Amino acid sequence: MIFEHFSAGGCQSYLVGCPDSRVAILIDPELSLIDRYLAFAARDGLRVHYLVDTHTHADHFTATQELARRLEVPVAMHRLSPAPFVDLGLDDGEMLVVGKLRLQVLHTPGHTRDSMCLMVADRVFTGDTLLMGGTGRTDLPSGNPEQLYDSLFGKLAHLPPAMQVHPAHEYKGRDHSTIGQEFAENPRLQVRERAAFVEMMNGLNLKMPTHITEALRTNMSGGRTVAQMLAEAAASVPFMSLAELQGRAAGNGEELLVLDVRERDAYEQGHIPGARLLPRGQLELRVNQDLPDPTRRVVVCCEFGRISTLATATLRSMGFLRAVALDGGMQAWREAGHPLKSGPEP
Ligand SMILES: [Fe+2]
Repeated sequence: MIFEHFSAGGCQSYLVGCPDSRVAILIDPELSLIDRYLAFAARDGLRVHYLVDTHTHADHFTATQELARRLEVPVAMHRLSPAPFVDLGLDDGEMLVVGKLRLQVLHTPGHTRDSMCLMVADRVFTGDTLLMGGTGRTDLPSGNPEQLYDSLFGKLAHLPPAMQVHPAHEYKGRDHSTIGQEFAENPRLQVRERAAFVEMMNGLNLKMPTHITEALRTNMSGGRTVAQMLAEAAASVPFMSLAELQGRAAGNGEELLVLDVRERDAYEQGHIPGARLLPRGQLELRVNQDLPDPTRRVVVCCEFGRISTLATATLRSMGFLRAVALDGGMQAWREAGHPLKSGPEP
């Protein structure tokens, strides 16, 4: 079996391939690692045939949908997953065939109702049902401690003790453990009485994961993350440095229009001398009147350099093919001590 393990801030993902047929499956891929997965698959001569999420993640962004689009292969999840981009709804006892590998689905609700584990050969991918020295929490949407108890003690406890455990989260850098080790040592699995287990899970009082609303919004709907939107916009526009703009503004060379897309009060407090105000919220509706010449060279600025990137991408899509984004924003401009002007537009 070809096996690669990836880690991103505690989130674990796995590329599992058949050495004979060179086909592979990617388990719990994370959005920020897309290029790494593709590079590893290419390096090992593997073609990914399935993208799997072990459950609806609430703490990070799944890459399954984006990879499915790029690779034209199906996304598989448990059939109870609410995500509209799932092509293959799996159920307990079913298998995914990847070359000579057989990955068997074990429905293990509790952390979420769509949680599943995948068993292949000598190992089980436990998602957030069973972690090394812990379990998934049960206080997030669709979590249920009674169901987690049944999944752990009614299902995973019956797997061979030597079976390797590969979870979706690991924060201490450990590679894997085994079923036997977990049931012997994992503190949560020592609470073997149902009511006591449920009481323990209900009393954990954990902090909500950061980005939970954005993670659930995008993972459940297939919508894009803010970081994705910014990365896509940034990939479609050129940038100009603060120093370059400062030099050009001072030199009064070719006419370069600075377009400030912040709100009026921010603009009036201090802007690049000569900048024109066109708030981002009014961009599409006012652009014909304010920028009648689409061949004009325009550099777009905002406070931090993010909204200006989105605005520049919008301008380019509208035909302003010489629009560029300022690399940095007014905050950096002020910190660099470059000249400022306050007050309304002339
Ligand atoms: Fe999770």
